[in-house]
Amino acid sequence: MILPVIMAGGSGSRLWPLSRQQLPKQFLTLLGDNSMLQTTAKRLNGIEHLPALVICNEEHRFSVAEQLRADAIQTSGIILEPVGRNTAPAIALAAIQALKNGDDPLLLVLAADHVIKDEAAFCASIEQAIPFANANKLVTFGIVPTAPETGYGYIKRGDAQEGQTGFTVAQFVEKPNLATANEYLVSGEYYWNSGMFLFKASTYLAELKVHRPQMFSACEQAMADTQADLDFIRLNKAAFEACPDDSVDYALMEKTAQAVVVPMDCGWSDVGSWSALWEVSDKDEYGNVCRGDVINIDTRNTYVNATEKLVTTIGLDDAIVVETKDAILVAKQSDVQQVKNIVEQLKAEE
Ligand code: GDD
Ligand code: MG
Repeated sequence: MILPVIMAGGSGSRLWPLSRQQLPKQFLTLLGDNSMLQTTAKRLNGIEHLPALVICNEEHRFSVAEQLRADAIQTSGIILEPVGRNTAPAIALAAIQALKNGDDPLLLVLAADHVIKDEAAFCASIEQAIPFANANKLVTFGIVPTAPETGYGYIKRGDAQEGQTGFTVAQFVEKPNLATANEYLVSGEYYWNSGMFLFKASTYLAELKVHRPQMFSACEQAMADTQADLDFIRLNKAAFEACPDDSVDYALMEKTAQAVVVPMDCGWSDVGSWSALWEVSDKDEYGNVCRGDVINIDTRNTYVNATEKLVTTIGLDDAIVVETKDAILVAKQSDVQQVKNIVEQLKAEE
């Protein structure tokens, strides 16, 4: 049986000023009427699965519980991390929890902050991955790259698997530099790592034990005497604080010999910037995306998000305008990656 594991512990700063430490991207409603977390939980309708296990930082427990409750989304529990140790330990905690009642489900590991336009194609790729995961493989879902993005993992296609839609992974490189990303793009042999995975809970833990034994044992200790209140699962804080910090991509996917990539063509975006959000949003006849109370005159190809006030623009082209209670961003679309520099500057001034 498939147990979705929704990772919702990121602190995404690239959508500042809407995304904040208290309310990062996965809890925002950026498209349609649902938050990214709610949308993630609801796009699984096409596959048979257990209620999802959600894993997030303790400080976001009320946002998570409230958003799931508001949409009547059942869970198998909400694991609360007392500190962030990145995705490799987060998945380990979920795997240990999953094995607790004697089953060994297939964990469908999902980021809580991705956009997927074609849910049927998404579910079809997951179905294709099931036989590999049942055969103790670690399946990643590969997206055909369209640009030399340096914020992604790159997966080199190996041998095709007979009779099945999937390839061995010849190489996995997390976040290469620009020149390398360009080489990979031009070669046509690489996929982007979508950041979603399918494997048995036991397979993940066995591989982690081989490649990151300290991380494995810290997570085991952290989960040895969990406390449950309501849906929340609390772990041993001191044990988890001692856990090394690393992402699943560096800790395991770059190292394992058990990886398989299943292609996924589902209109995927990880919405890594305001311009990426503009890209995937429905636009009006002038190419503008407007959320909230907005009036545009002679403005084109612009994203405007007004949360508190009426926002009006005249004669803008290729721009981003985001208005919130205490901060306003006005940027050229092409410069929007520099939002992270603003966030860094603000942190330095704190
Ligand atoms: N519970 C928990 N705890 N969740 C976390 C933590 C943590 O400590 N850190 C991150 N997450 C969640 C984020 O909320 C997000 O949903 C997901 O895990 C991925 O984390 P990111 O921090 O967004 O990773 P990334 O975007 O830099 O890179 C990953 O995703 C790319 C695709 O978007 C990698 O898997 C790349 O290889 C991949 O290409
Ligand atoms: Mg991400």
